[in-house]
Amino acid sequence: MTTTAILSALLQEQSGLLAALQQPQRTAHAGRTFWQGTLHGQPVVLALSGIGKVAAATTATALIERFGVARIVFTGVAGGVGEGVQVGDVVVAHDYVQHDMDASPLFERWCVPGYAGVRLPCDANLTALLSGAVHACLTSARDIFDIKEGQNLPRLHAGLIASGDQFVSSAASAQALRQTLLAAGHDVLAVEMEGAAVAQVCMDYGVPFAAVRAISDRADDAAHVDFPQFMATVASRYADHIVRRLLQSLSIK
Ligand code: ADE
Repeated sequence: MTTTAILSALLQEQSGLLAALQQPQRTAHAGRTFWQGTLHGQPVVLALSGIGKVAAATTATALIERFGVARIVFTGVAGGVGEGVQVGDVVVAHDYVQHDMDASPLFERWCVPGYAGVRLPCDANLTALLSGAVHACLTSARDIFDIKEGQNLPRLHAGLIASGDQFVSSAASAQALRQTLLAAGHDVLAVEMEGAAVAQVCMDYGVPFAAVRAISDRADDAAHVDFPQFMATVASRYADHIVRRLLQSLSIK
């Protein structure tokens, strides 16, 4: 059976996965901790990406080079910037853009020189399985996330996510980021700090990559309050349920 890497950005997001890991085996490498074991019957490696694009690229490279993983799945949180992308919703990435990459006028803005186009695609098959897992979780979301009668159910969005080395924390900067990309035809749903780097490394190695992000904040003036609150309360519950469904669907593939 091939090994799936499950990447999280922060310990709070990983804690539930670690607690459920069977036959855990800890390896320290490149200043990081990697946990090998079995999760819901599947061989996995759990790792923290670290914060920001370089840290995430190092972790992804180690997962591929040292642990020989067959696929990488990122579960984490993001700031919602797309219309109607609310706190508690879930975004599955179809592709990524690095919103802080700008080698213009030598190259098209946002394009990583040497790669075709602005967008770094995720793997279509793995992404379809991940979307199926999220969909299944959201249909039983009332029980999983204690959603009260009358409260809106979380929604699933699929599309473009932007990554950059910046915690976006004002409505003005979120709006500027979204509008500038939108004017060039790139409709960004959410913003975070690692996914595009992992997508790039996975493209380099030909390793399938998929990513899911629960929306912790709206990347606005309240983001610095909403983000830690979401992390402390529900972030790991999203990861636990989605990863369980995904690994179950991988086992029947
Ligand atoms: N991850 C979660 N919220 C974020 C934000 N507002 N900016 C960047 N990364 C995030």
